[in-house]
Amino acid sequence: MEVIIKPDSDAVSKEAAQLFEDQLEKKPTSVLGLATGSTPLGLYRELVIMTHAELLDFSRAITFNLDEYVGLSGEHPMSYGSFMREHLFAHINLPAENIHVPDGLAADIAQHCADYEEAIRRCGGIDLQLLGIGSDGHIGFNEPSSSLSSRTRLKTLTPRTIADNARFFGSAAEVPRHVITMGVGTIMEARRVVVLATGASKASAVAAMVEGPIRASVPASILQMHQKCVLIIDEAAAGQLERADYYRWVYDHKPEWQRA
Ligand code: F6R
Repeated sequence: MEVIIKPDSDAVSKEAAQLFEDQLEKKPTSVLGLATGSTPLGLYRELVIMTHAELLDFSRAITFNLDEYVGLSGEHPMSYGSFMREHLFAHINLPAENIHVPDGLAADIAQHCADYEEAIRRCGGIDLQLLGIGSDGHIGFNEPSSSLSSRTRLKTLTPRTIADNARFFGSAAEVPRHVITMGVGTIMEARRVVVLATGASKASAVAAMVEGPIRASVPASILQMHQKCVLIIDEAAAGQLERADYYRWVYDHKPEWQRA
């Protein structure tokens, strides 16, 4: 895993935006896996600015979002469908028919999850998957103890994730208990993975992900097995990494041909 430590969240967003630019330049028809939450907001702002400056073209891209709350329609203001429209989709030239977000109101959730997996397969698999990390080490909404080979399915949020996400709702009581999420196995099949983390509240999850043992208690730790995973974090999120100096040294000495 490549670990890139940047001074602050702005620099994290800019570094990640470079990866998206590089990906879409190399393959305009890229299949992009997208995340919601606070962490990618700066990146999405960058992508919007770059699209308006005609540095980015999403017209042939396809997207699949990681997750959605069960019980919320894609129109509900707190749904991840609404989140994506507000922060990205409404501001870039991505055709509506190329957007995929799990349906929180699906009547047959198991069938919907199987169809979501099939849709990813039909599009040729995910080229670049964007992830945040939960303070409990989750990726997507694969909470601790999730199977490390799981596929898209229904999950129950932990009380900790519900408390973390209460800031988007009026209170913890209003946060749905269930979600549809891509599985850990689904995420691991992406050709390239970029994980973003900012702030001291993510420091212990980041350390467990990068330097701890691979275990279902920290689903993000399976990314140690991914051949093309880059973690871009700010100084605060890097605060508990034992080998932070080495990661900085590697980045500073990266051969030119390896840079995006
Ligand atoms: C969101 C998602 C989650 C978040 C994680 C971090 O689609 O899949 O794994 O990335 O909960 O959330 P924030 O960025 O709000 O700290």
